[in-house]
Amino acid sequence: MHNDDLNNKVDVSALPFSQACENNKQPILEVLQTELQGFTHVLEIGSGTGRHSVHFAPNLPDVQWQTSDVTSNHRHIIAWHDAYPAPNLYAPLAFDLSTDSVPVDSQLNLPYDAMFTANTLHIISWALVERLFVLAGDALPANGKLIVYGPFNEHGDYTSEGNQRFDAMLRAGNSDSGIRHTEEVVSLASEHHLKLVTTYAMPANNQLLVFQKAK
Ligand SMILES: C[S@@+](CC[C@H](N)C(=O)[O-])C[C@H]1O[C@@H](n2cnc3c(N)ncnc32)[C@H](O)[C@@H]1O
Repeated sequence: MHNDDLNNKVDVSALPFSQACENNKQPILEVLQTELQGFTHVLEIGSGTGRHSVHFAPNLPDVQWQTSDVTSNHRHIIAWHDAYPAPNLYAPLAFDLSTDSVPVDSQLNLPYDAMFTANTLHIISWALVERLFVLAGDALPANGKLIVYGPFNEHGDYTSEGNQRFDAMLRAGNSDSGIRHTEEVVSLASEHHLKLVTTYAMPANNQLLVFQKAK
């Protein structure tokens, strides 16, 4: 079932729009439906417009989907949640990686057994990528998963000319941003007891990396 079909009275054109999200939400969901079997409480980091969350939550009914982001994005996320509410979809928690520890939802007050983040590692600085893995490594239980979607370099090089152009654009906008090297991310993760267990090749030269916390 497609969540957007639930309420055809919503004026979607008034909601914050991301073409990338429209393109990748279904391929990501299909991986999450496999990878999150048996998982119950997911923290999404950097929920952005909130578009992913309203697609994922109703299609992952056994999962409580907790959104989060820096507070300046909350109005976007809330707009999508108001348009497409779901019983297992939770309003954004304030979570700025540069200042905050992993936020707890006062309603649920449950530990997260998985974390998901899309298109954030190439935006935030490497110092914040490190912080994300520190926090995930600390907060996740044994066998907990950290699932990361986005573009990555492989073997020290870009995986496409499109990614090379994208990286140049990112770095021109902010010298701290840039596409990360899979090997460096995997090495960082291992320092925090998170092992790369599966890699999915995704459309448009993106990847989805699944890390699992050691037992
Ligand atoms: C390119 S957007 C991706 C949004 C969404 N996940 C998606 O795939 O469309 C990058 C996200 O990283 C978030 N972000 C940037 N700096 C952050 C920080 N210091 N702490 C937490 N999130 C941050 C932004 O607010 C934004 O939601």
